[in-house]
Amino acid sequence: MDKWTDVAAQADLFEGAGIAVTSHGLDLALFSVEGEVFAIDNLCTHGNARLCEGFVEGHHVECPFHQAQFSLRDGSVRCGPATAPARVWPVRVEGGRVYIQWS
Ligand code: FES
Repeated sequence: MDKWTDVAAQADLFEGAGIAVTSHGLDLALFSVEGEVFAIDNLCTHGNARLCEGFVEGHHVECPFHQAQFSLRDGSVRCGPATAPARVWPVRVEGGRVYIQWS
């Protein structure tokens, strides 16, 4: 059964900036882009960098260490040096709260 978990207040999110949240023992980064919220693993797949501190360009986040770019929609790599995609999580916003879906 799919499970939704409350991880943040929507008011804590600002366009173009990431925040870190921890849920189910995982470190996640949340981003708000054009009013839509995205959740992605916070750890870059190339090294020990936190994507919540990355630069947002469109629907991509750029790693602050070596500038790999990941899609916030599906975690795919747009440009290296990272080669492995980052995991993304379904998000729902309801009543001013942000929920992540665990399956
Ligand atoms: Fe993210 Fe190298 S640690 S691109």
